[in-house]
Amino acid sequence: MTARTFGRLRIECVRGDIANQPDVDAVVNAANAALRPGSGVAGALHRAAGPGLDEECRALAPIAPGEAVITGGHDLPNPWVIHCLGPVYGRDRPEPALLAASYRNALQLADERGLESVAFPALSTGVFGYPMAQAAEVAFQTMADTADALHSVTRVRFVLFSEADLTLHERVLGAVQASRCLYPEPPPRSGRGV
Ligand code: APR
Repeated sequence: MTARTFGRLRIECVRGDIANQPDVDAVVNAANAALRPGSGVAGALHRAAGPGLDEECRALAPIAPGEAVITGGHDLPNPWVIHCLGPVYGRDRPEPALLAASYRNALQLADERGLESVAFPALSTGVFGYPMAQAAEVAFQTMADTADALHSVTRVRFVLFSEADLTLHERVLGAVQASRCLYPEPPPRSGRGV
């Protein structure tokens, strides 16, 4: 597990199953527009949550790319599920702006509810075809950009399915932090009285 901090926001990357993250307030669903059970993340979350989640979702559908809505967690170990519709790569344009909106809207919803912790999957990188390295950069830049505006959310977990996906996300997270910390220490004084 790798963790980096942006202001008060800690971002963790772990390998695991988004449906088995009992120590976070909300898990994020990589949803379809109709908010119905699907494959991948949506399948795993709906299976674990039971039919009550599907019932609650019907009243909130459809949603648009970049939008996020919140429901209860039903039989999941988490009290809340935040459903995001990421962009379909090559169809919903501009993809980076729509993917950034998904992450930003999910974080804002969690913050409005006073939640402390949220676990995300890599939105749009499965069935929706978004190249993973590009999607990871959008995700972490957006989280870093949003960090200062958050009041209650202090911990974000990125849950990756494979070791390769975890390694890639750890690398991108480190690069995003490095790009924002060019001068972590004050520059040395020249000593020439300039
Ligand atoms: N836990 C964590 N990550 C997972 C899990 C899981 N249980 N299952 C899949 N993943 C990973 C995938 O490997 C991929 O990197 O999550 C990422 C997102 O994959 P998808 O679930 O396919 O989400 P997305 O690309 O946003 O496509 C959404 O897929 O299931 C349908 O109904 C859904 O139409 C919607 C579309």
